Amino acid sequence: MIKALIVDQAEDNSVSASLQQIEADRLPDDGEVDIAVEYSTINYKDGLCLNGLGRLVRTYPHVPGVDLAGTVTASRDDRFAAGDRVVMNGFRSGEIRWGGYATRASGKADWMVRLPDGMSTRHSQMLGTAGFTAMQAIMRLEANGMTPDGGEVLVTGAGGGVGSVATVLLAARGYQVAAMTGRAEIADYLTGLGASRIVSRDEMQDDPGKVMESGVWGGCIDCVGGQILARAIKQMNYGCGIASLGNAAGATMEASIIPFLLRGVAVFGIDSVMVPIPERERIWAALDAEMPRDVLESMSREITLAEVPDYGRQILEGRVRGRILVNMNA
Ligand SMILES: NC(=O)c1ccc[n+]([C@@H]2O[C@H](COP(=O)([O-])OP(=O)(O)OC[C@H]3O[C@@H](n4cnc5c(N)ncnc54)[C@H](OP(=O)(O)O)[C@@H]3O)[C@@H](O)[C@H]2O)c1
Repeated sequence: MIKALIVDQAEDNSVSASLQQIEADRLPDDGEVDIAVEYSTINYKDGLCLNGLGRLVRTYPHVPGVDLAGTVTASRDDRFAAGDRVVMNGFRSGEIRWGGYATRASGKADWMVRLPDGMSTRHSQMLGTAGFTAMQAIMRLEANGMTPDGGEVLVTGAGGGVGSVATVLLAARGYQVAAMTGRAEIADYLTGLGASRIVSRDEMQDDPGKVMESGVWGGCIDCVGGQILARAIKQMNYGCGIASLGNAAGATMEASIIPFLLRGVAVFGIDSVMVPIPERERIWAALDAEMPRDVLESMSREITLAEVPDYGRQILEGRVRGRILVNMNA
């Protein structure tokens, strides 16, 4: 028997989650690697899956959890062996296939990464897809030429998971970080993570309506999209880039293309789901090398699997600060 958080749909189409003991043979049987899951986490997308939103989950009953880390118990693929510590995120695990909110999981060998020696399963899930995507975005902008000399980097939705980790990682690489938040009360938290100044969400939303403004930002990690992304595009320094990775503020925007034409501004889409394994290994290695573990601990809250549905609602309401660690054995 294994412990699993099962999301099911009632006849009236309402969706609810409950903690259950289930037979291990109910796990998907198309994976080559069996894992004893030690930790998972909660991302915005998990909040959607837990609440039947976003049309992400196609069949019920379902076990959500886009992230997991644990120890391999058996492998039918010679790239992995019992005892390996692995992390798995993306490839739509937890969305269209059962994911990390169970004490056991199985997955394709093509989807997982052996954790770097210095990275515990616990710390990997304090980072999770949020931390992974933050590093992926920074690497993408640096490949476009972003450097600490190019101007302040704007991080939007800074109080959330991706924004918090991005703030820490950028500050550690020597960037001046302007952290945009809608919550004035978390300003001290953000400066504690390394933000050099706080930009209020209202200030960014108060758009004077010009096609282009004075250049302010040497880069932007945008977790929110909508008109805030449109405003940031107008405020980029010459040749600088924006990593667009989230839509907490909206999935559409009305924007001027003039900054693309006159300033060579670039917007890079960031997708963490289908990243090829060699790039995943580089991202996890960089996180292992650069993420200060004491800061990671301080920005994370540990919860049990039974508490996941409550935090799934909170993350959709923008009430979660930093990262949530789900301890599967607590
Ligand atoms: N592309 C990918 O592969 C990928 C990977 C991971 C996440 N994402 C997406 O990236 C976004 C952030 O993910 P996350 O895990 O960091 O989520 P999160 O922890 O919920 O953080 C989102 C943050 O956005 C801000 N926010 C919320 N509602 C807003 C609104 N209406 N207007 C402006 N800002 C708002 C809040 O920050 P403040 O309170 O500080 O303002 C909130 O903490 C989500 O949209 C998620 O789906 C995409």
